[in-house]
Amino acid sequence: MRRVVSPGSFDPVTNGHLDIIARAARLYDEVVVAVLINISKRSLFTVDERVEMLRDATAEHSNVRVDKFHGLIVEFCKANDIGAIVKGLRAVSDFDFELQMAQMNYSLAGVETLFMTTNPLYAFLSSSLVKEVAQYGGDVTGLVPPAVALRLRERLGRP
Ligand code: PNS
Repeated sequence: MRRVVSPGSFDPVTNGHLDIIARAARLYDEVVVAVLINISKRSLFTVDERVEMLRDATAEHSNVRVDKFHGLIVEFCKANDIGAIVKGLRAVSDFDFELQMAQMNYSLAGVETLFMTTNPLYAFLSSSLVKEVAQYGGDVTGLVPPAVALRLRERLGRP
C-alpha cells in the first residue's frame, strides 16, 4: 500500500491543510494525518481536540486516517510503514526551512518529502493568523471548516 504522511501542529486545521490532504488522498492509497504532540509549545486546542476536528473535516475521504505522534516524524513513518511526507508550500519563505527538514528526514531514515504548491486561494493562510483574526472577532468563514470556526468562537469567548 502506498502511504504518505501529512504532519503538523494543526492548531487548528485550516482549509489550506485540507486542500493538501485531499489532493494527496487522490495520489496515494492512504494519507495519514499526524498531529504533533508538543508539550513545550503553547496551543489553543489540545491534541485530542485537534485530532477530533481533523477527523471531522476529513470524514469524506475514506483513505485518510488521523493519528498523533511525538518525537521524530521519521520514527512515526517507520512504525507505520510510510515512505514519504507531504508538505504544502505557500511561498518561497516556506522553502528554506522545509528544504532543511526534508534533507534531515532523508538523511535520518531515507524518508522522502513531496512538496505540493498550495492553492493560491489559501496561500496567505496559517493557523496562527486564523487564531489572531478570530481572537479579535474577525470572520474566518471560508478559511477553516464551519465546525472549526465554531470551536474558535467558543474557545475565544466570542459566540
Ligand atoms: O504545523 P507545523 O508546526 O509547521 O509542523 C511542523 C512539523 C510537526 C511537521 C515538524 O516540526 C516535525 O516534523 N516535528 C517532529 C519532530 C521532528 O521529526 N523533527 C525533525 C524534523 S527535521
